[in-house]
Amino acid sequence: MRTQVGIVGAGPAGLVLAHLLHLNGIDSVVVERQTRDHVEKRIRAGVLEHGTVDLLTAAGLGDRLLRERMVHHGVELLFDRVGHRVPLTELTGREITIYGQHELVKDLISARLDTERPLHFEAADVQVDGTELTFHVDGTQTTVECDFIAGCDGFHGISRAGIPPSALTVFEREYPHAWLGVLAQAPPASDELVYAYHDRGFALHSMRTPDITRLYLQVPADTDAADWPDARIWDELRTRLDRDDPRWQLNEGPILEKSVAAMRSFVVTPMQHEQLFLAGDAAHIVPPTGAKGLNLAVADVAVLAEGFAEYYAGRGSGLLRRYSETCLRRVWRVQHFSWWMTSMLHRVDDDPFTRELQLSQLRYVTSSTAAATTLAENYVGFPMA
Ligand code: FAD
Ligand code: DHB
Repeated sequence: MRTQVGIVGAGPAGLVLAHLLHLNGIDSVVVERQTRDHVEKRIRAGVLEHGTVDLLTAAGLGDRLLRERMVHHGVELLFDRVGHRVPLTELTGREITIYGQHELVKDLISARLDTERPLHFEAADVQVDGTELTFHVDGTQTTVECDFIAGCDGFHGISRAGIPPSALTVFEREYPHAWLGVLAQAPPASDELVYAYHDRGFALHSMRTPDITRLYLQVPADTDAADWPDARIWDELRTRLDRDDPRWQLNEGPILEKSVAAMRSFVVTPMQHEQLFLAGDAAHIVPPTGAKGLNLAVADVAVLAEGFAEYYAGRGSGLLRRYSETCLRRVWRVQHFSWWMTSMLHRVDDDPFTRELQLSQLRYVTSSTAAATTLAENYVGFPMA
């Protein structure tokens, strides 16, 4: 079998790329290790940047997104039992969208199936060798000869290993904490997201719909979710999100999902080697505090799709040659922002000096328009390149 672009991974990066290529009349084969049901139920991101929504809408992927999303114009930073609103739209003219990643993945899969171009789930033993992509489905081996391979298979995928270690530089930082995330059948207690700094650790109050709340707690890196029965989670959330406002009340309800997510900063450079291009989490990971990973994955494939479009239109390979350099400018801005938000909001040790610095920074970003604007313009996201 032959194709123009072999795409490894049907997460947001792989599926958005496949669709953008389709719009440009470019063939691709998408190969995913998991079942369709698994990827459509995997609870992860919830915040889409303004530019991500614009891109999806322009690509014809925004119908349900625009109907069902929640649009937010601010976020709240809570510390010392007082909430401070950062008015994102007032400061930047842009907004953010709340829409579950798994809902977006459902939309992307359905759009792919509509194109009748190949998308293989449950592909076993996926291998990339130069421009050859091989995999097994139902015990049958398939080999696809590709002009290019797009490695969109996330942090634990196989594509990155297709670049010789001697050609790669790896930047990495691990954090001593993780996030315990829960999805609860309860109406959100506030209209906007709440990022809470507390002496017992960070907490985040987010949402998915008017009936579903998404909550996170900072926990030690080696935490087992089994050590957190529901009652302990609600106790801790109530404590960390509490405030000096008699109207505040955390709404509780049945916990529908519970998982622990590791936190790490990671970048490989370059993001390309010969005909292999890495995109999204396969090339970089950010700690979730800035709500950036999915948005960055979409930004990468927007650049990559333009490069392929230029190439197949016979206009040369300048954009593809500059792919890594173009993406890395945004990657490092997002790395810095995500590290900064993480450092400002998480309790790391009992060092009183660090605590005073964090509180000073929180007071600064919630009282200075200049500092709040820095947070806001990074949070809503810079325009796509
Ligand atoms: P993935 O979504 O990981 O997709 C990769 C795909 O490749 C998967 O489907 C995987 O099954 C498949 N795959 C892996 N190995 C193989 C193989 N060998 N062969 C074939 N297929 C393979 N980001 C935000 O922007 N905003 C947020 O609010 C946000 N919150 C988050 C909260 C949490 C708790 C977590 C964990 C992440 C969050 N993120 C957020 C990050 C975001 O979810 C990821 O950055 C995003 O999923 C990256 O998309 P991707 O397509 O690059 O990778
Ligand atoms: C969500 C996740 C994030 O990482 C974040 O910073 C904000 C919200 C969420 O899942 O809703």
